[in-house]
Amino acid sequence: MAFSDDFIYQLRLGNPIEDLFSSYVSLKRRGTTYTCLCPFHSEKTPSCTVYVDTQSFYCFGCGAGGDVITFVERIENLSYIESVKYLAQRAGIDIPDNSINDKSAHIKARTLEINRETANFYYKTLLSGAGAPGRAYFKSRCLSAATIKKYGLGYAPDNWNALHDHLIKSGFTEDEMIEACVCRKNSNGRIYDVFRNRVMFPIIDLRGNVIAFGGRILSGDSAKYINSSDTPVFKKSRNLFSLNFAKNSDSKRLILAEGYMDVITINQAGFENVVATLGTSLTSEQARIMSQYASEIVIAYDSDKAGVAATQRAINLLTAVGVSVKIINMSGAKDPDEYIKKFGSTKFRLLLEQSGDAVNFQLDKCKAEADISTEAGKVDYLRRAIGIIAELTDPIARDVYISRVSRDADINTNVLHIQLESTLKKRSLIQKKKEWKTIETSLNMPDTVNPDSVKYPKQNKAEEYIISYLMKNPDKLEHITSVISTDEFVTAFNKKVFSEVCKAIKESTVFSVSLLSEFFDSSQMGKICGIEAKNRDKTITEQTILDCVDVLKNFNAGFVYNNEVELSDDDLLKIQQQLKNKK
Ligand code: UTP
Ligand code: MN
Repeated sequence: MAFSDDFIYQLRLGNPIEDLFSSYVSLKRRGTTYTCLCPFHSEKTPSCTVYVDTQSFYCFGCGAGGDVITFVERIENLSYIESVKYLAQRAGIDIPDNSINDKSAHIKARTLEINRETANFYYKTLLSGAGAPGRAYFKSRCLSAATIKKYGLGYAPDNWNALHDHLIKSGFTEDEMIEACVCRKNSNGRIYDVFRNRVMFPIIDLRGNVIAFGGRILSGDSAKYINSSDTPVFKKSRNLFSLNFAKNSDSKRLILAEGYMDVITINQAGFENVVATLGTSLTSEQARIMSQYASEIVIAYDSDKAGVAATQRAINLLTAVGVSVKIINMSGAKDPDEYIKKFGSTKFRLLLEQSGDAVNFQLDKCKAEADISTEAGKVDYLRRAIGIIAELTDPIARDVYISRVSRDADINTNVLHIQLESTLKKRSLIQKKKEWKTIETSLNMPDTVNPDSVKYPKQNKAEEYIISYLMKNPDKLEHITSVISTDEFVTAFNKKVFSEVCKAIKESTVFSVSLLSEFFDSSQMGKICGIEAKNRDKTITEQTILDCVDVLKNFNAGFVYNNEVELSDDDLLKIQQQLKNKK
């Protein structure tokens, strides 16, 4: 074991799972457990349970589950060792230094070193003689020297292997360069720099690590921006550009812009609280992250058609994580960068203050698209407007917008209320059905963690009973191991679980699922906590266990239950005859 059971015990004590969860989602108490919307799949009614007694969680919707370490692994995208370190730091516990040897942590550390060296190289190049084109470009975009320094902007020279040669001199291998996505290999096996003749935007995470790069061409018409692909230290969908600065702002508000240049210009104009996604549209993970830092998000996307569509998408994702959403209404410029240059930062501040709410933005859009001077247009507008209002959870807010729509279309509010009620009913039915469907499909999904369970359903069930009984009653270890041995387990996964549970109970003073998370990955931990969660409310007696043991023993003795073929009358007669003869 990498860590002693005593250390794991302290770690769990210092990091109650309900505390960890509540910094990501809102928990609802239900007796001695908590429920919440699952942070690992999108849903509207909660199917994730957090168990205080076992300090574990399980989502009945998507099968995610585990202990507090698994939770951190998944939500922060960290390895086992990194999660343990993270939790130890969080609780102020020292990590015993028994030379932890973790390969993936080593790769991550090297990738971060390469990134830092690469960012330095680009920055230094920008300031050198070779950086003249980059400096001229940033000047044309009105960036000050201070801003360039603050963001660590750089220039990738117009050369196929300047970075490569520099990194070799700095002691990195070509494999490491490729892993970090700063160099690539062509089909002839020749290695070359990914970014050439581009101004460079390093992407920095909350801990100050350089995790990726975006590079913009200076002119011409090849891809305007190139972004790093996902690497061991970078996942596009869960990072935000400039969050490292925005997180320090006192404001309860975050501005969400479309691109690098908008963010930098807005920041330079005096607004620290601005972020952007990284070459992809907003994801639900990013929405969740933003909700941790702000209660209000102002969307400041481009004013073109694509920008309006992206705004609608962002409204949906952000509303779903419970933040209030405002939309900037910009005219006279295509994006915030251009707006600030044309009208200045004071005007932009005014624009922020006057930003409208998301519902009015959507209603305005519908109104503009439907011609409400005609009867058919009016009906169309009302239908869509009711659809938008039905998304709101606050009844007072619904009332307010019903009034607006009633004025818009000159229609009695009562009529709108009746229509709204019926829409709400229909929606809640559809929603429930949809969520049942997800649960159903996840139940019917091929079991990838324990594929043997499909072949041996009966044995699998017996094994799961034994395992959950043992986890609940670790004091019964001797009894259980006296009636059944690991070798007699039929499915490979359960065999391993049983063996590790036995070992953990034997070697520790207090058993907990956390003692398993070193040996199982997060989807396997999900499965184990699922076994626990599904059998939690069943009374499994010693007799049940003995019956389960029989199922396994019979299987091993070659006595195969035949679920498919019923015995024929002839067979039954024969068996009766045999039994009689025996007597
Ligand atoms: P824009 O085309 O609006 O770029 O794309 P921009 O930020 O206004 O850039 P400038 O002002 O022309 O320099 C918005 C964002 O979409 C991504 C980038 O993240 C960009 O910041 N993008 C755009 C790409 O990833 N690749 C592209 O080719 C273009
Ligand atoms: Mn722009």
